[in-house]
Amino acid sequence: MSNNLLKEFENVIASGSKDEFLLRQIDPDKLPAHIAIIMDGNGRWASRRNQPRVAGHRAGAAAVRATVEAAARLGIPYLTLYAFSTENWKRPRLEVEALMGLLREFLRKEIRSLKENNIRFRTIGREQRLESTVTREIEHARRETESNTGTVLTVALNYSGRSEIIQACRELAAECAAGGRDPAEITEYDFERRLFTEGLPDPDLLIRTSGEMRVSNFLLWQIAYSEIYVTETLWPDFRQLNLFEAIIEFQKRERRYGAVKPAHKSSLVAANMK
Ligand code: FPP
Repeated sequence: MSNNLLKEFENVIASGSKDEFLLRQIDPDKLPAHIAIIMDGNGRWASRRNQPRVAGHRAGAAAVRATVEAAARLGIPYLTLYAFSTENWKRPRLEVEALMGLLREFLRKEIRSLKENNIRFRTIGREQRLESTVTREIEHARRETESNTGTVLTVALNYSGRSEIIQACRELAAECAAGGRDPAEITEYDFERRLFTEGLPDPDLLIRTSGEMRVSNFLLWQIAYSEIYVTETLWPDFRQLNLFEAIIEFQKRERRYGAVKPAHKSSLVAANMK
Protein backbone atom coordinates (compact mmCIF):
# COMPACT_ATOMS: atom_id res chain seq x y z
CA MET A 1 0.00 0.00 0.00
CA SER A 2 2.65 2.55 1.00
CA ASN A 3 5.05 1.18 -1.59
CA ASN A 4 4.94 4.38 -3.60
CA LEU A 5 5.68 6.43 -0.52
CA LEU A 6 8.51 4.07 0.45
CA LYS A 7 9.95 4.57 -3.00
CA GLU A 8 9.86 8.37 -2.62
CA PHE A 9 11.90 8.06 0.59
CA GLU A 10 14.14 5.27 -0.71
CA ASN A 11 17.43 7.11 -0.30
CA VAL A 12 16.57 9.13 2.77
CA ILE A 13 15.10 6.57 5.17
CA ALA A 14 17.12 3.76 6.66
CA SER A 15 15.60 0.33 6.52
CA GLY A 16 14.35 -0.73 9.97
CA SER A 17 14.34 2.88 11.26
CA LYS A 18 11.49 4.49 13.20
CA ASP A 19 10.88 6.75 10.20
CA GLU A 20 10.31 3.70 8.00
CA PHE A 21 8.06 2.10 10.62
CA LEU A 22 5.92 5.27 10.71
CA LEU A 23 5.94 5.82 6.96
CA ARG A 24 4.52 2.33 6.47
CA GLN A 25 1.52 3.31 8.58
CA ILE A 26 0.56 6.23 6.33
CA ASP A 27 -2.29 5.58 3.92
CA PRO A 28 -1.23 7.33 0.68
CA ASP A 29 -4.88 7.59 -0.38
CA LYS A 30 -5.87 9.62 2.67
CA LEU A 31 -3.17 12.25 2.83
CA PRO A 32 -4.24 15.71 3.94
CA ALA A 33 -4.33 18.04 0.94
CA HIS A 34 -3.27 21.04 3.00
CA ILE A 35 -1.11 21.02 6.12
CA ALA A 36 -0.61 24.27 8.03
CA ILE A 37 2.00 24.55 10.77
CA ILE A 38 2.44 26.96 13.68
CA MET A 39 6.18 26.60 14.24
CA ASP A 40 6.64 27.28 17.93
CA GLY A 41 9.30 26.66 20.57
CA ASN A 42 12.45 28.07 18.98
CA GLY A 43 13.13 30.29 22.00
CA ARG A 44 12.66 27.45 24.51
CA TRP A 45 14.86 25.17 22.45
CA ALA A 46 17.64 27.77 22.65
CA SER A 47 17.20 28.61 26.34
CA ARG A 48 17.37 24.91 27.27
CA ARG A 49 20.81 24.96 25.68
CA ASN A 50 21.82 28.28 27.23
CA GLN A 51 21.95 29.77 23.76
CA PRO A 52 20.51 33.05 22.45
CA ARG A 53 16.97 32.90 20.98
CA VAL A 54 18.40 33.50 17.53
CA ALA A 55 20.17 30.12 17.73
CA GLY A 56 16.71 28.57 18.15
CA HIS A 57 15.47 30.32 15.02
CA ARG A 58 18.51 29.14 13.08
CA ALA A 59 17.85 25.57 14.18
CA GLY A 60 14.19 26.21 13.29
CA ALA A 61 15.20 27.03 9.72
CA ALA A 62 16.77 23.54 9.46
CA ALA A 63 13.45 22.07 10.61
CA VAL A 64 11.71 24.08 7.87
CA ARG A 65 14.03 22.55 5.27
CA ALA A 66 13.41 19.00 6.52
CA THR A 67 9.64 19.48 6.73
CA VAL A 68 9.27 21.05 3.30
CA GLU A 69 11.29 18.26 1.74
CA ALA A 70 9.30 15.54 3.52
CA ALA A 71 5.98 17.13 2.53
CA ALA A 72 7.12 17.29 -1.09
CA ARG A 73 8.20 13.63 -1.06
CA LEU A 74 4.86 12.62 0.43
CA GLY A 75 3.13 14.57 -2.32
CA ILE A 76 1.24 16.90 0.05
CA PRO A 77 -0.31 19.45 -2.32
CA TYR A 78 -0.22 22.44 0.06
CA LEU A 79 2.03 23.26 3.02
CA THR A 80 1.64 26.56 4.86
CA LEU A 81 4.12 27.74 7.51
CA TYR A 82 3.57 30.54 10.03
CA ALA A 83 6.97 32.24 10.04
CA PHE A 84 6.22 35.78 11.25
CA SER A 85 3.04 37.27 12.67
CA THR A 86 2.21 40.98 12.76
CA GLU A 87 2.61 40.67 16.56
CA ASN A 88 6.21 39.46 16.10
CA TRP A 89 7.31 43.05 15.30
CA LYS A 90 7.11 43.59 19.09
CA ARG A 91 10.16 41.35 19.58
CA PRO A 92 13.61 42.91 20.09
CA ARG A 93 14.93 44.53 16.92
CA LEU A 94 17.91 42.17 16.73
CA GLU A 95 15.64 39.12 16.86
CA VAL A 96 13.39 40.53 14.12
CA GLU A 97 16.45 41.26 11.97
CA ALA A 98 17.78 37.76 12.56
CA LEU A 99 14.44 36.22 11.51
CA MET A 100 14.38 38.30 8.32
CA GLY A 101 17.99 37.33 7.67
CA LEU A 102 17.16 33.65 8.06
CA LEU A 103 14.30 33.96 5.65
CA ARG A 104 16.54 35.68 3.08
CA GLU A 105 19.18 32.99 3.57
CA PHE A 106 16.58 30.23 3.24
CA LEU A 107 15.27 31.65 -0.02
CA ARG A 108 18.76 32.15 -1.44
CA LYS A 109 20.09 28.75 -0.47
CA GLU A 110 16.97 26.68 -1.00
CA ILE A 111 15.83 28.03 -4.33
CA ARG A 112 17.67 25.23 -6.11
CA SER A 113 16.12 22.57 -3.92
CA LEU A 114 12.66 24.15 -4.30
CA LYS A 115 13.06 23.91 -8.06
CA GLU A 116 14.45 20.37 -7.99
CA ASN A 117 11.56 19.24 -5.80
CA ASN A 118 8.99 20.95 -8.07
CA ILE A 119 7.85 23.15 -5.16
CA ARG A 120 5.99 26.38 -5.81
CA PHE A 121 6.75 29.17 -3.37
CA ARG A 122 4.35 31.88 -2.30
CA THR A 123 3.65 34.05 0.73
CA ILE A 124 0.63 35.39 2.59
CA GLY A 125 0.58 38.52 4.74
CA ARG A 126 1.32 42.16 4.24
CA GLU A 127 4.58 42.61 2.40
CA GLN A 128 4.62 46.42 2.72
CA ARG A 129 6.40 46.45 6.07
CA LEU A 130 9.08 43.95 5.06
CA GLU A 131 12.52 45.19 4.06
CA SER A 132 13.15 45.48 0.35
CA THR A 133 16.03 42.99 0.62
CA VAL A 134 13.49 40.42 1.83
CA THR A 135 10.73 41.27 -0.65
CA ARG A 136 13.25 41.04 -3.51
CA GLU A 137 14.18 37.47 -2.50
CA ILE A 138 10.50 36.59 -2.10
CA GLU A 139 9.67 37.93 -5.54
CA HIS A 140 12.62 36.08 -7.05
CA ALA A 141 11.63 32.76 -5.42
CA ARG A 142 8.02 33.25 -6.47
CA ARG A 143 8.93 33.94 -10.09
CA GLU A 144 11.49 31.13 -10.29
CA THR A 145 9.01 28.55 -8.99
CA GLU A 146 5.72 29.78 -10.42
CA SER A 147 5.46 27.09 -13.05
CA ASN A 148 6.20 24.24 -10.63
CA THR A 149 3.37 21.78 -10.22
CA GLY A 150 4.23 19.97 -6.97
CA THR A 151 3.73 21.08 -3.36
CA VAL A 152 2.69 24.71 -2.94
CA LEU A 153 4.76 26.08 -0.07
CA THR A 154 3.14 29.16 1.46
CA VAL A 155 5.04 31.12 4.08
CA ALA A 156 2.99 33.47 6.27
CA LEU A 157 4.96 36.67 6.82
CA ASN A 158 3.72 39.71 8.66
CA TYR A 159 0.44 37.80 8.76
CA SER A 160 -2.60 38.33 11.00
CA GLY A 161 -5.80 36.32 10.62
CA ARG A 162 -7.92 39.09 12.15
CA SER A 163 -6.60 41.86 9.94
CA GLU A 164 -7.06 39.62 6.88
CA ILE A 165 -10.73 39.22 7.85
CA ILE A 166 -11.18 42.95 8.49
CA GLN A 167 -9.64 43.74 5.11
CA ALA A 168 -12.08 41.40 3.35
CA CYS A 169 -14.97 43.04 5.25
CA ARG A 170 -13.78 46.50 4.22
CA GLU A 171 -13.60 45.53 0.56
CA LEU A 172 -17.08 44.03 0.58
CA ALA A 173 -18.50 46.95 2.57
CA ALA A 174 -17.02 49.40 0.07
CA GLU A 175 -18.61 47.51 -2.81
CA CYS A 176 -21.98 47.56 -1.04
CA ALA A 177 -21.66 51.27 -0.25
CA ALA A 178 -20.87 51.99 -3.88
CA GLY A 179 -24.14 50.30 -4.73
CA GLY A 180 -22.60 47.48 -6.67
CA ARG A 181 -23.62 44.71 -4.29
CA ASP A 182 -26.51 43.60 -2.11
CA PRO A 183 -25.17 42.70 1.39
CA ALA A 184 -27.77 39.95 1.70
CA GLU A 185 -26.22 38.17 -1.24
CA ILE A 186 -22.65 38.01 0.05
CA THR A 187 -21.50 34.39 0.17
CA GLU A 188 -18.62 32.56 1.86
CA TYR A 189 -17.04 32.29 -1.57
CA ASP A 190 -17.17 36.10 -2.03
CA PHE A 191 -15.42 36.43 1.32
CA GLU A 192 -12.75 33.79 0.65
CA ARG A 193 -11.83 35.44 -2.63
CA ARG A 194 -10.72 38.49 -0.63
CA LEU A 195 -8.40 36.62 1.71
CA PHE A 196 -4.65 36.20 1.18
CA THR A 197 -5.31 32.49 0.80
CA GLU A 198 -7.47 32.89 -2.28
CA GLY A 199 -7.04 29.76 -4.36
CA LEU A 200 -5.74 27.61 -1.49
CA PRO A 201 -8.03 24.95 -0.04
CA ASP A 202 -8.67 25.22 3.72
CA PRO A 203 -6.11 23.31 5.81
CA ASP A 204 -7.15 19.74 6.62
CA LEU A 205 -4.53 19.49 9.33
CA LEU A 206 -3.17 22.24 11.57
CA ILE A 207 0.00 21.27 13.46
CA ARG A 208 1.32 23.27 16.39
CA THR A 209 4.64 22.43 18.00
CA SER A 210 5.85 22.94 21.58
CA GLY A 211 2.62 21.93 23.30
CA GLU A 212 0.76 25.25 23.29
CA MET A 213 -3.01 24.95 22.75
CA ARG A 214 -3.54 28.17 20.82
CA VAL A 215 -4.18 29.22 17.24
CA SER A 216 -2.39 32.58 17.65
CA ASN A 217 -4.23 34.56 14.99
CA PHE A 218 -3.31 32.08 12.24
CA LEU A 219 -5.74 31.37 9.38
CA LEU A 220 -8.73 32.09 11.62
CA TRP A 221 -11.33 31.80 8.86
CA GLN A 222 -9.64 28.93 7.06
CA ILE A 223 -9.22 26.50 10.01
CA ALA A 224 -12.95 26.28 10.76
CA TYR A 225 -12.92 22.52 10.12
CA SER A 226 -9.22 21.68 10.35
CA GLU A 227 -8.07 18.83 12.53
CA ILE A 228 -5.71 20.24 15.15
CA TYR A 229 -2.63 18.29 16.19
CA VAL A 230 -0.41 19.60 18.98
CA THR A 231 2.95 17.99 19.66
CA GLU A 232 5.28 18.64 22.60
CA THR A 233 8.22 18.58 20.17
CA LEU A 234 9.85 22.00 19.91
CA TRP A 235 9.99 23.30 16.35
CA PRO A 236 13.81 23.04 15.93
CA ASP A 237 13.55 19.30 16.73
CA PHE A 238 10.72 18.71 14.24
CA ARG A 239 11.73 16.31 11.47
CA GLN A 240 10.04 14.07 8.90
CA LEU A 241 9.14 11.47 11.53
CA ASN A 242 7.18 14.10 13.46
CA LEU A 243 5.32 14.97 10.28
CA PHE A 244 4.57 11.27 9.75
CA GLU A 245 3.22 11.02 13.33
CA ALA A 246 0.91 14.00 12.74
CA ILE A 247 -0.41 12.51 9.50
CA ILE A 248 -0.98 9.09 11.10
CA GLU A 249 -2.99 10.77 13.88
CA PHE A 250 -4.92 12.80 11.28
CA GLN A 251 -5.80 9.63 9.39
CA LYS A 252 -7.30 8.15 12.57
CA ARG A 253 -9.66 11.08 13.05
CA GLU A 254 -13.19 10.98 11.78
CA ARG A 255 -14.08 14.26 10.06
CA ARG A 256 -17.76 15.10 10.15
CA TYR A 257 -17.91 18.83 9.28
CA GLY A 258 -20.75 19.31 11.76
CA ALA A 259 -22.79 16.40 10.43
CA VAL A 260 -23.24 12.99 12.05
CA LYS A 261 -21.70 9.69 11.03
CA PRO A 262 -23.84 7.99 8.35
CA ALA A 263 -24.54 5.10 10.76
CA HIS A 264 -25.66 7.53 13.49
CA LYS A 265 -27.70 9.48 11.00
CA SER A 266 -29.72 6.47 9.93
CA SER A 267 -30.27 5.37 13.52
CA LEU A 268 -31.52 8.88 14.35
CA VAL A 269 -33.89 8.81 11.38
CA ALA A 270 -35.10 5.37 12.49
CA ALA A 271 -35.62 6.67 16.04
CA ASN A 272 -37.63 9.65 14.74
CA MET A 273 -39.85 7.37 12.66
CA LYS A 274 -40.88 5.27 15.65
C1 FPP B 1 8.20 30.69 17.28
O1 FPP B 1 9.12 30.34 18.28
C2 FPP B 1 8.86 30.85 16.00
C3 FPP B 1 8.89 31.99 15.27
C4 FPP B 1 8.26 33.23 15.72
C5 FPP B 1 9.61 32.10 14.01
C6 FPP B 1 9.65 30.92 13.10
C7 FPP B 1 10.82 31.07 12.20
C8 FPP B 1 11.65 30.07 11.78
C9 FPP B 1 11.35 28.67 12.03
C10 FPP B 1 12.93 30.34 11.05
C11 FPP B 1 12.90 30.91 9.70
C12 FPP B 1 11.73 30.60 8.82
C13 FPP B 1 11.81 30.20 7.52
C14 FPP B 1 10.57 30.03 6.73
C15 FPP B 1 13.08 29.87 6.88
P1 FPP B 1 9.29 31.30 19.57
O2 FPP B 1 10.46 32.16 19.33
O3 FPP B 1 8.01 32.03 19.84
O4 FPP B 1 9.58 30.21 20.67
P2 FPP B 1 9.23 30.28 22.22
O5 FPP B 1 7.73 30.29 22.33
O6 FPP B 1 9.85 29.03 22.77
O7 FPP B 1 9.86 31.52 22.74
